[in-house]
Amino acid sequence: MLIRFGLIGCGRIGRMHARNIAAHPMAQLVVCHDLIADAAEACASELGAETAPSVNALLGADIDAVFIASATDTHVDLITRSVQAGKAVLCEKPVDLDMRRVEACEREIGSLASRVMLGFNRRFDASFQALRNRLLAGEIGTLEQVVITSRDPEPPSPRFIATSGGLFRDLTIHDFDMARYLAGDIVEVQAIGANLIDPAIKEAGDIDAAMIIMRAASGALVHINNSRRCAYGYDQRLEVFGSGGMLQAQNQHPTTVEVWNGECTHAQDRVPHFFIDRYADAYRAEIGHFVDCLSNGKPFLAGFTEGKAALQLADAALASLASGRVETVEHGR
Ligand SMILES: NC(=O)c1ccc[n+]([C@@H]2O[C@H](COP(=O)([O-])OP(=O)(O)OC[C@H]3O[C@@H](n4cnc5c(N)ncnc54)[C@H](O)[C@@H]3O)[C@@H](O)[C@H]2O)c1
Repeated sequence: MLIRFGLIGCGRIGRMHARNIAAHPMAQLVVCHDLIADAAEACASELGAETAPSVNALLGADIDAVFIASATDTHVDLITRSVQAGKAVLCEKPVDLDMRRVEACEREIGSLASRVMLGFNRRFDASFQALRNRLLAGEIGTLEQVVITSRDPEPPSPRFIATSGGLFRDLTIHDFDMARYLAGDIVEVQAIGANLIDPAIKEAGDIDAAMIIMRAASGALVHINNSRRCAYGYDQRLEVFGSGGMLQAQNQHPTTVEVWNGECTHAQDRVPHFFIDRYADAYRAEIGHFVDCLSNGKPFLAGFTEGKAALQLADAALASLASGRVETVEHGR
């Protein structure tokens, strides 16, 4: 079954998704819309799609699905309008920065929430998926600890920081989702943060480094470490430790060549610079999963519920940062 897509938001990530949709054999990019008409035009003309002058015009086109890759504060409105127009939705993270808006959206769309997939791309990384499958297959016995390392190569602009929702809702949201993907529901969160990198981030009211520890309902402990700067590139590693051993997913390198000489041993190429390179295959697999679910009536690996749960953990981490205490997380509130 061919899935026909409309794309809203043709910026940095939307343009990449547009190419992945166009390259998928069972997907077609039909129409693009962006507040900046030139951005939509550039994307559509590159990939042989049409442009729509408005969201309503896009929703009126002959499409099955809407990919929402516009600014975060547009997501809940666009999710609501798209599912109510009968379209399936693949929406970039986060659902929103404000839990009250997420809950209002959830109430408004009701059972149509099952038509929404969230773009938690790391779930589709082949190594992370293999690690999870082997964990679930019992290869390391009972899960006791999860360690998630997630460091950006460089800080974003202070202007972005001011509207980003902060480190936890913007960056760590992926790690909160990964924690739930590996360890299940989380019941306790404690966070500490610091300004170690860029004074402009502090002036914008955010932190640039953090460590978060959490307890899962299963009893497993989780540690996330984040930094807005990393000298060797985009540092993305996972470790799960259990009664019978450990599984690790290491950083990826452009080649497997190692150098052993007078200055160093075991040195490899730098890790990929940032997410578009590191997760290129995962973004493609994400589209593939969405198309497969729509074609074969399967549930999404990450839906509206996962988007809400990750935001709930981000909010708990923020509360802990302010209170200095362990925050408990209530489910299904
Ligand atoms: N999954 C990931 O790894 C990942 C990475 C980066 C960004 N994101 C998310 O993707 C979204 C977009 O991020 P980006 O980096 O591409 O931003 P961007 O600013 O490069 O692009 C956003 C685009 O959306 C357009 N836009 C804004 N409001 C609109 C509206 N009401 N209608 C139509 N178009 C509108 C803008 O004109 C712009 O072209 C954000 O929600 C961000 O959190 C996810």
